Amino acid sequence: AGLITLDPGYKNTGSCESAITFLDGEKGILRYRGYAIEDLAEKADFLEVAFLLIFGELPNKEQLEKFTNDIKEQSHVDEEMKKILDGFPKAAHPMGVLASLTSALTAFNPSSVDVSSEGDMYKAIVKIMGKFPVLAAWTLRKKHSLPLNYGDESLDYVENLHKMMFEKPGKSYKVDKTVIDALDKLLILHADHEQNCSTSTVRMVGSSHAGLFASISAGVSALWGPLHGGANQAVIEMLERIKEDGGDTHKFMEKAKDKEDPFRLMGFGHRVYKNFDPRAKIIKKSADEVLGQLGVDDPVLDIAKGLEKEALEDDYFVQRKLYPNVDFYSGIIYRALGIPVEMFTVMFALGRLPGWIAQWREMRLNKEPIGRPRQIYVGPNHRDFKPLGSR
Ligand code: CMC
Repeated sequence: AGLITLDPGYKNTGSCESAITFLDGEKGILRYRGYAIEDLAEKADFLEVAFLLIFGELPNKEQLEKFTNDIKEQSHVDEEMKKILDGFPKAAHPMGVLASLTSALTAFNPSSVDVSSEGDMYKAIVKIMGKFPVLAAWTLRKKHSLPLNYGDESLDYVENLHKMMFEKPGKSYKVDKTVIDALDKLLILHADHEQNCSTSTVRMVGSSHAGLFASISAGVSALWGPLHGGANQAVIEMLERIKEDGGDTHKFMEKAKDKEDPFRLMGFGHRVYKNFDPRAKIIKKSADEVLGQLGVDDPVLDIAKGLEKEALEDDYFVQRKLYPNVDFYSGIIYRALGIPVEMFTVMFALGRLPGWIAQWREMRLNKEPIGRPRQIYVGPNHRDFKPLGSR
């Protein structure tokens, strides 16, 4: 065997060539297929961005219409899926339920995707784009004991998602446009981020030629952790804790710097960004606008701003180039939009779905080999086996 290079966490290992997302962590640049995230967040809508990420070009009007309609046609799941959801306790975390339901989709859509056929691949893609929001909305409905529902084909993707999540029996559904626009923007900002933990997981699982739904389900599980997508929930919980403790941000800064204490400032730091996360910049601005437009006064926003200011001037954070990341302010907007905290990471998953699909598709089209890292063995040398009676 040749010499194996050890790189825990793959800090310096490129796992693939990719033409999807460009990220310059030193300069704080993020582009999808060459387009600046700032432009896309401002000028495009979520399905346009999804199409761009997956197929490489912005869609024209007909392409977008077809993509939208094909997804709508897939916006239902087998009735048996309701029984599976029924089996979960109400206390189950929506991310665990979502991963399980996504995996369960494979039982009702068992045919494997022939990746040499663009048509076959397209079908799998619109299926998951259509069904995933239904499952995501149901995880919330389950938690809040609301009857399961389906979407409304006359609505666009994001409004439909919102309706599926929040419509209440016996009440007519209404939503402020500010809410839908903000949600659309958040989904775009989360749509892809090159070889992060969940995306690498999707590529890794898919590299064994497991199907798209199985790969996405694995991605949901990877995203769940507090060091990754779960950070958005962890941030709000941390800010609440600071508020309840009297609002002394300095105390928590010191705690985060103490190496004996496992506490970290959630929503700070990033493996690749050693400068402002451009998504955090957009979200911070958006948080101010959305809270203003909706007339929400959230004291936690002031705590977040105070914490950010202090961290940006603190030697520990400056030296380690720890800046606020995408998750630092997103929870504050989600909360203003009425999304319960346990659903924050599910919102991230809904946004990341097109990225996962695009990366899976690229990996299969590039005929990448199975992902299989090596190791350096540090366990015991050969040992003689002792039968049970003599141990
Ligand atoms: N609070 C306090 N110290 C930190 C933090 C933090 N949030 N993040 C990193 N550090 C310190 C860390 O202790 C280490 O210090 P030293 O060099 O003295 O040992 C140094 O900064 C480098 O950190 P690292 O853990 O080696 O960096 P990493 O690239 O392995 O981890 C990270 C990146 C995002 C997991 C980490 O910064 C972190 O845990 N942040 C908090 C969780 C979070 O906000 N995650 C969301 C990431 S962005 C969205 C997403 O990916 O989903």
